[in-house]
Amino acid sequence: MPDRPVAIVTGASRGIGRGIALELASSGFDLVINRAQAKQPEVMGEATALGAQCAFAPGNIGESQAREKIVEIARTTFGRCDLLVNNAGAAPLKRLDILDATEESFDRVLGINLKGPYFLTQLVANWMIEQRKEEPERPLRIVNIGSISAYTSSPARGEYCVSKAGMAMMTKLYADRLAEYNIGVFEVSPGIIETDMTSAVKGKYDKLIGDGLTPIKRWGRPDDVAQAVAAIAEGRLDFSTGTVLHVDGGFHLRRL
Ligand SMILES: NC(=O)c1ccc[n+]([C@@H]2O[C@H](COP(=O)([O-])OP(=O)(O)OC[C@H]3O[C@@H](n4cnc5c(N)ncnc54)[C@H](OP(=O)(O)O)[C@@H]3O)[C@@H](O)[C@H]2O)c1
Repeated sequence: MPDRPVAIVTGASRGIGRGIALELASSGFDLVINRAQAKQPEVMGEATALGAQCAFAPGNIGESQAREKIVEIARTTFGRCDLLVNNAGAAPLKRLDILDATEESFDRVLGINLKGPYFLTQLVANWMIEQRKEEPERPLRIVNIGSISAYTSSPARGEYCVSKAGMAMMTKLYADRLAEYNIGVFEVSPGIIETDMTSAVKGKYDKLIGDGLTPIKRWGRPDDVAQAVAAIAEGRLDFSTGTVLHVDGGFHLRRL
């Protein structure tokens, strides 16, 4: 078995996932890079330049065949998985008031943001349990990229909020179940991060941040989230399984 640890990062082509992939490459991880589209993303070359061996595993994580393929590629390329980062996620194609929003959008968003990571984690967790039997000491961890939307009401994208609230519970469930195997499970909860996902609402959030929505008055960057994932990947939080790291400039604080 190769010495370098291996991370599967979903949705690693752009934004937060790309930041996480590059940070992990710098920390000595080899990578399985997933995205929805079939085209290899530039991040593969960027991570390779940082010393990582990369395998590409495209596919919609909302579909079981794609999830199985991701794990198969990780198994055949590297034979191990030390870290799973469930990052891929999608906003509703159209923001619609909860009184008008469609079942179609609910199924799409829940499929990508909750069912996908829930069952990808099940696949990887079972593989990690196999690995644990062979190597009792090797660090094995899972990180879920949640959101402030897990506990913040945005009625114009209710399905997104519900998906992230579900992911918060998923973190607790897997943290509880996998503790006996010494597999840590964590949630990283980003606030307002500058990526393609938020580009359509940039003006709105510029104003809100300027007006003091977040105690730290700036947009978050993919690297802010990647640093939190790196802290987990380095093993600095291993006794804190099930915990939530808020990467949100203090948004989660209640203020008076
Ligand atoms: N940006 C924020 O402010 C913010 C805040 C809180 C939480 N988050 C969460 O952080 C994560 C990353 O967000 P981001 O802002 O970096 O998003 P982004 O810039 O829109 O990038 C999304 C990534 O996910 C991939 N993806 C989308 N649907 C997928 C699917 N069905 N199967 C596999 N991959 C898929 C995309 O692949 P392609 O390139 O192939 O489309 C891309 O790599 C998401 O879970 C999001 O909910 C973001």
